[in-house]
Amino acid sequence: MAPYIGAPASRIDGHAKVTGAAKYAGEFTAPDLAHGSVVTSTIAKGRIARIDVSEALSVEGVIAVLTHKNRPPMAGTDRAYRDETAPEVGSPFRPLYDDKVRFSGQPIALVLAEDWETARFAASLVHVQYEEDAHVTDLHQQLHEAKAIDTPPKPRGKADKALAVADVRHEAEYYIPVEHHNPMELFASTVIWDGDGKLTVYDKTQGVQNVQRYVRGVFRMKANDVRVVSPYVGGAFGSGLRPQYQAALAVLAARALQRSVRVVLTRQQMYTLGFRPGSIEHLRLGATADGALDAITHEVSAITSQYEDFARNDTGWSGALYKCANTKYSHKLARLDLATPCDMRAPGAATGVYALECAMDELAVALKIDPLELRIRNYSDRDQNDDLPYTSKQLRECYRQGAEAFGWSRRNAEPRSMRDGSELVGWGMATGVWEALQMKTAARIVLSANGHAEIACATSDIGTGTYTIMAQVAADMLGLPIDDISIKLGDSTLPQSPVEGGSWMAASVSHAIANAADAVRKELLRLAKKAPDSPLAGTKLDDITLADGKIASKRDPNRAVSITDAMRNSGVDRIEQERFSDFKEDSKHARNTHSAVFAEVKIDEQLGVIRVTRVVSAVAAGRILNTRTAHSQIMGGVVWGIGMALHEETLIDHHFGRIMNANIGEYHMPVNADVHDIKVIFVDEPDDIVNPLGIKGVGEIGIVGVAAAIANAVYHATGKRIRDLPITLDKLQR
Ligand code: MOS
Repeated sequence: MAPYIGAPASRIDGHAKVTGAAKYAGEFTAPDLAHGSVVTSTIAKGRIARIDVSEALSVEGVIAVLTHKNRPPMAGTDRAYRDETAPEVGSPFRPLYDDKVRFSGQPIALVLAEDWETARFAASLVHVQYEEDAHVTDLHQQLHEAKAIDTPPKPRGKADKALAVADVRHEAEYYIPVEHHNPMELFASTVIWDGDGKLTVYDKTQGVQNVQRYVRGVFRMKANDVRVVSPYVGGAFGSGLRPQYQAALAVLAARALQRSVRVVLTRQQMYTLGFRPGSIEHLRLGATADGALDAITHEVSAITSQYEDFARNDTGWSGALYKCANTKYSHKLARLDLATPCDMRAPGAATGVYALECAMDELAVALKIDPLELRIRNYSDRDQNDDLPYTSKQLRECYRQGAEAFGWSRRNAEPRSMRDGSELVGWGMATGVWEALQMKTAARIVLSANGHAEIACATSDIGTGTYTIMAQVAADMLGLPIDDISIKLGDSTLPQSPVEGGSWMAASVSHAIANAADAVRKELLRLAKKAPDSPLAGTKLDDITLADGKIASKRDPNRAVSITDAMRNSGVDRIEQERFSDFKEDSKHARNTHSAVFAEVKIDEQLGVIRVTRVVSAVAAGRILNTRTAHSQIMGGVVWGIGMALHEETLIDHHFGRIMNANIGEYHMPVNADVHDIKVIFVDEPDDIVNPLGIKGVGEIGIVGVAAAIANAVYHATGKRIRDLPITLDKLQR
């Protein structure tokens, strides 16, 4: 039995998904299910003066209309609404709480009917009068009011002075618009009324226990009275980290009606949740004539809502990545009358590193140095912000292998110098970086005497492949075939898990499983030694291993007892062990994943149509648990990077303060025809410091740097530098 860890194992949930057996939150049902349709505000700011539900109520099949006026009680403290991923500063949104309107598209009523179509029709008959206040939804308009927050890393040296005396300087502003997640699965919650006020909530979420605590808090329910279940998630990318309002509304309705309720958002309403905050990133770089960085300043102004301060690390990457003695940062938030932004794949890094890596390209042009060479000249083996060595950092190897696979050495540095027929050809590159996070997580193993093991953890699998990597790790640790492993996840009653996000789940749950497997091994050895003349008599725990269904001595494989014999002979039919991952505090190392991204664009010279014809992404992310699912993660990130570079932009009509393209027809994203050759390379990166299994996680690293590599390629093709995303053909023609 070859080891499963590291193999390109197929998704163990693949069959269920392609056959439709996998059930998503909006597909669970109950005999008496009521359907809720959300009514949203049409103004961006003000209050609801009057809300007339009589016409909606008169529709046959309508059961009730809930508004802030007639809803059942909800908690009145911010604490109750603050989930584990909420911003620390601010007052979380409370759906249907009061008459205040904080953003256009805010839920203001829930129409409940016997079927979905009736609910949706009746929702169109809810009449609302508003008292409107002046709103502002334009980041540029609110820049002067933006206020600094104190989260960026500490400055070092004297950046302004160093800039003033630098041989070569580059200064520019880069703009990233508001972007939305657009997962395939709509946000949905089906709440099953189990009687006596007990609820089972099937929810689209990245964290069932996070939602469970939220529902308990908001509705003041007992711990055992609410269970949150989410076996499958059809993409979320950060939009499902916080409990979303449809869950609160569905629970509210189930409690009001004392029956089961389902609330599914429309695609348009998906744009009324969080989003990637638009940001303006101001970079200044200074270098010596031979390309040694001596100054970096990175200032960001980003969007938040009027009621919470959402911010992620945009600027810190700039000071961490390259050798540079003088750096400083600032992070400002502009409050707009929009919903609070939220995490979206590689929050902070996708935007901040986009700006940094475009600025590095511009500096390379100014210095007349190859952009890859500039990165290598400023390469750092230590995290420059904290002056710490990395647990591992094979970025140099990413550069080497990526450049070789791409053919970078054949690049002609001169812009507009490379052509393919009527198309200009551009080659660009960028660095990517993300964190290697790990969180306290528990896993339970139940091993049966028939040689089957069930592994349980409350984590979600948001589509990344968590089911599969859990099974791979368990199979190796227990020495069982992967077909004898089953996985239970996405249920708040299972062992403790944080939300699945930040790319931390693979490392976190794997170590919980490994620790639980150690406990199982110990128990099995105890049982195996019980038999008279046991071949394992006298062996120590450290000397035995579980392999091929046996407990065996590492030194002498002939000394072995089968797992089933050990259990059956002792009259034991199940062994159950639950353990936490136990990551050691380590303040002596920086933990990061890295990538080198190379992109080729071909641009029609007359029309400005841009095609991303090739991307090579070389990733160093520690041990890759599953080369197939990890490849998919990186490929997905590259596709998203193409979208970020060329397509994606949430357009707001500032007059109405409303999102104009709240649908996946007009919110452009890459389709199959936009995606060409993507090559993913995993660079070998052994790491016995980051954690015992050397796992760093690969969710977010895939997108970081991609948009910059493409933007840099567009410059190389055309000689035009477009700094505000997305790079559309009209901008190229300006
Ligand atoms: Mo990710 S933005 O942590 O789902």
